[in-house]
Order: sequence, then C-alpha cells, then structure tokens
Amino acid sequence: MSPGAIITLAGRSGRRLKGFIVRKEAKQHGTGRDVEGPVQPGDSAVIVEDVVTTGGSSLAAIDKAAAFGLAIRGVLAIIDRLDLDTRAAVETGEALVDLARGDAGEAVLAGEVVTSAALLREDAPVAGVLVGERSRQAARTALDLQEAPDVVVPGASAPMRRWLVQGVRASARAIQAPFTGRAVELPLLEQAFVRTLRESTVQLVTITGEPGIGKTRLVAEFRTLLENRQPVLWRQGRCLPYGDGITYWALGEVVKAQAGILESDDPQQAAEKLEAAATAVLEDPTHRDWIVASLAPLVGAVSTSPVGADERAETSFTGWRRFLEAIAVHDPLVLVFEDLQWADPALLDFLDRLADSGSPVPMLVVCTARPELYDMRPGWGGGKRNSTAIALSPLSEEETGRLLAALLARAVLPGVVHDVLLERSGGNPLYAEEFARMLVDRGILERHGRRGVIAPGAEIPVPESIHAVIAARNPELSRGDLVPSAGGPSPERGVP
Ligand SMILES: Nc1ncnc2c1ncn2[C@@H]1O[C@H](COP(=O)(O)OP(=O)(O)OP(=O)(O)O)[C@@H](O)[C@H]1O
Ligand SMILES: [Mg+2]
Repeated sequence: MSPGAIITLAGRSGRRLKGFIVRKEAKQHGTGRDVEGPVQPGDSAVIVEDVVTTGGSSLAAIDKAAAFGLAIRGVLAIIDRLDLDTRAAVETGEALVDLARGDAGEAVLAGEVVTSAALLREDAPVAGVLVGERSRQAARTALDLQEAPDVVVPGASAPMRRWLVQGVRASARAIQAPFTGRAVELPLLEQAFVRTLRESTVQLVTITGEPGIGKTRLVAEFRTLLENRQPVLWRQGRCLPYGDGITYWALGEVVKAQAGILESDDPQQAAEKLEAAATAVLEDPTHRDWIVASLAPLVGAVSTSPVGADERAETSFTGWRRFLEAIAVHDPLVLVFEDLQWADPALLDFLDRLADSGSPVPMLVVCTARPELYDMRPGWGGGKRNSTAIALSPLSEEETGRLLAALLARAVLPGVVHDVLLERSGGNPLYAEEFARMLVDRGILERHGRRGVIAPGAEIPVPESIHAVIAARNPELSRGDLVPSAGGPSPERGVP
C-alpha cells in the first residue's frame, strides 16, 4: 500500500493523519524544500517506506525529516507489497510442514528449501522464474535453463547457484529405458479393449502400483500398440494433488481435448468450441442444449443455457456420460484417468457411474493410481463384471538387470555394485533410470560410441531408495549418503 493510500484510508475511517513526502532531491522550483506537506517542525512522524532493500533511503528520509524539525518515532516498512510485476522462484527439497500451528488455517513451513526459495525469488527478474540447484536437477530435461550468476549466502559453505528458466522443452526425458517386462499386464489391457469392441460395452481397468513402478509407461505402451493397429480415439486426463476448483479437472481435460479447447481460449471461445463438438456427436438436438450446459463448467465455458452450472451433480453426471457415450458411438473410445489417488471423491463417483451405465458403446476406461486409492475407496471397481484390476508388481531381477544394462548402454558395473543395485531398486524402473541419470550427471558413466563406460576407479554410489537416488544426482547436495568405493559399495551400507 502506498503512503498516499494509507492517508486516504485513514481519512475515510475518520482518523486524523497528516501526510507528507520527503523528496529524494529538493526541486529547483516551488518551495524548494525537502519535506512537503501540512506538517510543522515539532510534529511527531513515522516514515513509511513501501519496499525496503538496503534501508538507505529510509535513513536519508529520517535525516531530512529530522533536519526539518520532525520527531521521528519509527519507520514502517512494507515488505510485501502487492505487485503486478510477478516474479517467481522454484526450489525443491524437504520442508517441515506444521499444519496445526498456523493461524487462519495456514500451514507453517520451515526448512532450508523455504529460505532458498525466498532468496531466489528476491533476485528473480520481473515475469521470470529462477530455480535453484535441486529444481534444476529435477526439471533439467524438461526445461531450457540459463545459468544466472551465483550469489553468496551468509552462513552457507558455498555460493548458491541459480538458473533462469528460458522455456519448456518439447522433448521428453533424455534417458528412457526400452520397455521391459509386463508380459502379462499388457495383454490384459488388450483383452479389455477387445471386449469393449466385441460386446460394445464399457470396460473399466484400474492399474495400481507404487510410484515409479510403471503405470503411466504401461498405458503409453498400450496406446502405441493400439494406434499401430487401428484407429481409436484416445482421451486422457490426470488428477492433480493440489489446487482449488479441480474436482473434475481430469474430466475437464478430456472434454477440452475432444472440443479442441485451449487454455488460452476465453469463455466465449470455449463455449463455441464446446457447442461445435457436441453438435458433431449428438445428432439429436433435443438433448443437446442441456448436455452442453452440463459440460460448460468443466471447460470454463460460458453457459449457453440457464440450466447446468447449478444443476445437481446427478443431472451433470448424466449429461457428461451422454456426451462421452455419444463420442464412443462414432469411434471406439479409450478414456484414461491418471493418478486417481488424488481424485476428488466426486470424480470417483462419476467414474463409477460411467462404468456402471451398461450403455451399449465401445468404451474402455483406464485408471491409474497409487495403492492409496484403495484406502480411500476400498471397494473400487469391485463387484463389477466389466472391471479388471491390474496391480503392477516389481520387475523381476532378470528384467531389472536387462533394464539396467540398457540404461547403462551395457557398461559393466563391478559385480558387487550390480548386486546391491538390484536389491535396492526393488524392481522399480524409476530407481534404475534415476541411478543411470545420476551416473551420467556425475561423469561416472561416459559414452564411447554406442557403448557406456564406467570411469576407471570411480566411486559408484548406490543410494538406498528412489528418493535418495534423486537427491544423490548432485554430489554437492547430498551429504554422507554416498558410497565411496573404488568399484564397490561401502561396507557401512550393509553390503556383504
Ligand atoms: N516396464 C518398463 N520398462 C522400462 N521402463 C519403464 C517401465 N516401467 C516404467 N518405466 C520407466 O520408469 C519411469 C517411471 O515410470 P512411470 O512414470 O510409468 O511410473 P508410475 O507408476 O506412473 O509412477 P507415478 O505413481 O509416480 O505416476 C518412467 O521413466 C518409465 O519410462
Ligand atoms: Mg504415473
């Protein structure tokens, strides 16, 4: 809030507050004074500074006001001015979150990462995003980054490195393993799809498993397989772990994709596209209007009819279902809902209803979720004749070995490292991938032609868990969780 606004608000609420300004440089014309306003020598005053950087201008103002004869009682610094010039910073790490202590329902955050993020934000340029070391590590393959000058942080052992985000990369991860295993699971998906076609039914497949076990990858492989074979309409949405107004986000993504609605479209454009998409699949105009009205809130469109936005969920559910079924009548439809462990119960209710509809259309609904889904909905998918559950188990040792060999471009690891690695990976492909990435990041794994070579005498760290692998990708970031060894893991990690 500017000093002028403070005086105006004080006046409105009936308080007598005299405002004055202290000039940085006295004007050559006019009164030529440093202090301008209805104040007299001998008055008490408070200096208001809207953004304090070094405090230098506050001190200068105090000197000038004191020279004028004002008695300065204090300095009011507004450190968090609402500014239209946005700047942002992203840093990654662990923080302690105290949900109970915060006032007004706000969580209290503590930890090094919070301080680092705040320091980064201070230096971020207007409309720019600055990221720290850990964020760079995590997002390096997805973002184009430009190194920004280091900054010395008092009390820290090393200068803080920073990067400026230049843009988002279209290409995916640099290191991706060839698809390995899943010889049972992929055919299960195929069979469910064949059933939707043969019986013209809705089939529900739920794929569950630990983070990084390969749910998303399995679905992606299934897509490639189907698309190589026949035309299918593939629509996909994901549930988000946070945010407001995201109850039906995943479904919104599906509808937006179907209608070609972009994030940049305004509500009017969204409404027009939605209308066109509905007209394309719903030949019978009798129900079209209310169905479109039910869909409008999902895609941020202005509603074309008074019904819809405030309709009961029941009517909306019916409208959404009718739209999806109408799409499937034209082309076999595969609907994918990712990360159902974060779904709002209302979305789960809708998907449940969709699967139970018994409508005679070829529609395959594929859901992925971490096992927590079953804590939330113990009976998810249960008792339905058209439902299949695929619980992804870890890759076998043999499969993990193959995966590692491919990831390391057949570079040979010392036998003992290899054994520990297999054990610690627990058959999790993400662990194997992150391990390979870590070796590349640290210059331990090099490419000689098409073959990988482990730098001779290199210390090969074998982190305990996926979490530790990600942390260990940068040596400066991880303290003590690495295994120093010329070719073998350290004894203190319990290696035989
Ligand atoms: N069978 C596999 N063969 C080769 N690589 C795989 C396999 N399964 C997964 N991966 C790789 O492992 C990484 C993690 O897999 P994915 O993203 O599918 O995990 P997820 O189970 O969906 O995890 P989350 O719960 O976090 O969404 C990906 O980079 C993926 O390509
Ligand atoms: Mg996933």
